[in-house]
Parts: sequence; structure tokens; C-alpha cells
Amino acid sequence: WACSKPVHENFMQCMSNQLKSGKNHSQIIYSSSSPQFPNLLQSSQQNPRWSNSTSVLKPLFIITPFHESQVQASVICSRRHGLQVRVRSGGHDYEGLSYLSKSPFVVIDLVDLRSVDVNIKDETAWVQSGATLGELYYAISKASKVHGFPAGICPSVGVGGHFSGGGFGTMLRKHGLAADNVLDAHVVDSNGRILERKTMSEGLFWAIRGGGGGNFGIVVSWKIKLVRVPHIVTGFTVSKTLAQGASLLVHKWQYIADKLHEDLFIRIILQNVGEGNNQKTVQASFNSLFLGGKERLVQLMKERFPELGLQARDCIEMSWIQSVLYIAGYNKDQPLEVLLDRETLYKSKFKAKSDFVNTPIPEVGFKGIWDMFSQEEVVFMIMDPFGGKMNEISEFETPFPHRKGNLYNIQYMVKWDADGVGESNKHLRWIRVLYWYMRPHVTRSPRGAYVNYRDLDLGTNNLVKKSYQEARTWGVKYFKGNFERLARVKNKVDPDNFFRNEQSIPPLPSLL
Ligand code: FDA
Repeated sequence: WACSKPVHENFMQCMSNQLKSGKNHSQIIYSSSSPQFPNLLQSSQQNPRWSNSTSVLKPLFIITPFHESQVQASVICSRRHGLQVRVRSGGHDYEGLSYLSKSPFVVIDLVDLRSVDVNIKDETAWVQSGATLGELYYAISKASKVHGFPAGICPSVGVGGHFSGGGFGTMLRKHGLAADNVLDAHVVDSNGRILERKTMSEGLFWAIRGGGGGNFGIVVSWKIKLVRVPHIVTGFTVSKTLAQGASLLVHKWQYIADKLHEDLFIRIILQNVGEGNNQKTVQASFNSLFLGGKERLVQLMKERFPELGLQARDCIEMSWIQSVLYIAGYNKDQPLEVLLDRETLYKSKFKAKSDFVNTPIPEVGFKGIWDMFSQEEVVFMIMDPFGGKMNEISEFETPFPHRKGNLYNIQYMVKWDADGVGESNKHLRWIRVLYWYMRPHVTRSPRGAYVNYRDLDLGTNNLVKKSYQEARTWGVKYFKGNFERLARVKNKVDPDNFFRNEQSIPPLPSLL
């Protein structure tokens, strides 16, 4: 008779059995009839593209564990009752893969697993996956003024998904990716076991540091190596429109940015701005963090990039934690507690894509980009320079392969607020055309992409057939030669493909 019971009853029974020694499981399981369910589901969806859609399937349950054992129970019971899981840390997945699914599923939301324990004596920290980058940076700054961590720019991004896909920000030229600075982790595998570095295979420890979230298990917490930062760092933002010579400067930047001293990170944000008379133009903002004082910075810029005309008055000296606020778009003097806000600034529907560039784009190439920008409203192209430490790490050391030879990464993004399929399609079409236009200017065979800027246009899995060959089309774009190793690790740790989604790594049996 048990078989005829609805799956949700069986699931609840299983959770109750698994958690019998712990607290009441009703405190962590929310079914779709619970009053908190809608808020909880929406709470950390950072891309509202699917919020009002009636065609998307809702999870049967949202589970908010506050202990590792509850994550284990959730995996065991979901598997036993044929439910897929979507694990969510900060909810920033560009395609919503942490809370959307086409099959019956549960969301395991790690929002209550977000402690940060900093150990300044050995310059490490244990951070749980549900913490945001802002919470991590905040906790480090409370413990030390001369330590930081090299991860992403937006404070609301979740540690769990971000570290799983690599994770980069203003210190990548000096210290590499967030994943390059991971020392240990606790992972709940597809059998519900908790593994740590000593008990997990080398392959699994390699795969979770950049192989993409949602593939190999649920990483509950990470041990990270903190990095030293100076007492004073300097930021600047110099913005130029096309009429003010932006084209030449952007073109020149490509020859310089990856070769600068590794203390200096200058990214470019391209966007449309109003020019008066209802006209718009493209503006390039050179947005920078220098790990040192302004005198040395101005000197360096005079020697290496005099065309930008940086003056001491453009430079703002501050502490490293203030620079986190500054680069994220806050005022550096705002209370640090804004870093604890879990919702992203400027939330709108969006679609993004990414590329890597290994040969400077000719000026005429940029001309075409400006033309494309003139056809849309809210668009961004963010160009993050590589070089420095990124050149020193082999492309096989972690799954993130875009190392030596890459001048910079590009992220293309289009945003909109209006509802409706027609509206969405208009913007999706625009960004796809821009991506097509960029083909001759970016890496080829394979064309590179960054897994943390997830893009389902690159290809999706056939969830029924689970074909490795099919998945290679998108897999090699994210991981190049590491894709095959990821698929072999997947076969060892999750041969039944329990952790799967539209773009998860398929298991590749050793004999193939
Ligand atoms: P989310 O919870 O949606 O998870 C993302 C994926 O990882 C999903 O597939 C999910 O199932 C899986 N996952 C989540 N937690 C997991 C866990 N504990 N164990 C295993 N799998 C897990 N990137 C960057 O490198 N630098 C940057 O500066 C920024 N900035 C930025 C700003 C904004 C506004 C957005 C929306 C995104 C970024 N990103 C970024 C991209 C970001 O790194 C990427 O979206 C991360 O995967 C987000 O991690 P979350 O935990 O927030 O997402």
C-alpha cells in the first residue's frame, strides 16, 4: 500500500525516519501549501525572468537544512523517492538551474548553512556554502584589516555556486580564482555520505573546484586560504563616451591590461548612456582596484597607460573592505552591513553570455559593437583582464581551463523589466546576434565560455539519453580538455547521474 501513497507523503515519512534523532523536520521542510513557500521560492531568485511564468514547474518541497545531517537526509530521501534535487546557495544561476526543473524535484536551499569561521592565526577560514560573498568579506574584515579573499564582485553571490564554477573578481590577477584558494571541503555525495578532503578522491576534490555547481554532490562548506591585502588600496573609475575617445582607449587597453603589474586590475564596463537630446551613446568606464597607494598607482599609469590621463584626484584611497563596497557600486563610506544584504543590486530580468579573447579586437570590430549597442537599451559588456597569476596556473590544475594566453574575459548582458514572451524574445534575439557577430574576435575551436555565466544556448543535455558526445558541444566550451576528466570523475562519484540538470556533466564510463 505504501506505493500508492502520494510521493510527498512517502518523502515526508522518509525524512522523518532519517531525522528522528534531530529537531522536528517540519522546521526545515516547506511544501507548496505552506504559507512561507512562495516567499521562500522567490527569495533568492536573482534573475526574475521566470517569476511570473505559469509554465514552470514548482518544487514539491523546499528544504532549508541547518545541519549537514539534514542535507544527507534530503539526498537519501529524494533519491529513494525518485525526486531530483536542485541545490541553491545564493540563487544567482543565470539560467535558474538552482530552482527550476522539468521533472518533479525538491530545492535544497542552503540559506541557513552560512556560518563563516575565520582563523587568522593560520590565515584560513571555513565558510558554509549558503553564505554570500558579502558575508564572507564582512567576516574576514571583522577579524583582520590585512586579509581578504579573491572572489567575485557582487556581494549577494552565493559561495556554493560561485566557488563551484571558479569565481573571479578584482584580485584574480594577483591571487587567481576563488577555487584556486580552496584547501578542503565537506561534500554530501549521491549516496548521502559526507566526504572531506581526506576521504574523497583526488578526482572529486579537483572537480568541485571549478567543474560547475550541481554536478558532483552538495558542497556544504569550504576551507579557504585567505590572502594578504595592504592597509591602503586605491580605486578609480574613469568614464569616456565615444565622443571623448572611448574607442581608442578600449582598443589600447587590450594591449596593456593583462601585462600590468599584478597588483593592478583595470576592467572595462561598456554601456549605453544618455547624451542629451534623447540621444544615447556608448560609455566605457575604466574601473580599477590597485593593491597599494595612489602615488605608486599614478606613476604606474603614467608609464603604462598614459592615454587614460589618470590624475591623483581621480584616485580614492581606502581599506580593502571599503574597496569591496566601492567596486560593487556602493559608496565606500556606507556601513559595512550593506554587505550582508542577500538581494542583488539593480535586480532585473537578464540574459548573459561570455567569451574569452586571446588576440586584440581591431578597432573596426568595436565599431560593429557600438552599432549593436545602439539597437538596445540596457546592455553591458564587462571586460575583465587576465594575466598575472592566471598565467602561472596550468589549465589542467583545476577544471577552469581559461588561463595563459587569454587577454581578458567578456561578459555580455542585456536587461529588461517588461513582462511577456514577445518582450523576452526581442532581447534574447539581440544578444544572440551580438554573440554571433563576435565570432571572429574571440577564442575559437573551441570558443570559450565561463561556466559561472551559465548559458543554455550553448547546448543542453538530453536527460533521457544522457549522451556524453552531445554534451561535449557545450562541455568543451566551458572546460576545454578538462571536460572528459570531469565526465570520468562524474562516473566514479555519481554513476547513476542523480545530480543532473539541463547542463550537468554526464557520467563517462572508463571503457569508452
Ligand atoms: P545558485 O545557488 O543559483 O547556484 C548556481 C549553480 O550551482 C546551480 O547549478 C546550483 O544548483 C549549484 N550549487 C549551488 N550551491 C551548491 C552547492 N553548495 N554545492 C553544489 N552545487 C551548488 N561570477 C564571478 O566569477 N565573478 C563575479 O563578480 C560575479 N558577479 C555576479 C553578479 C551577479 C549579479 C550575478 C547574478 C552573478 C555573478 N557572477 C559572478 C556569477 C556567479 O558566480 C554564478 O552565477 C554562481 O554560480 C552563483 O552562485 P550562487 O550560489 O549564488 O547561485
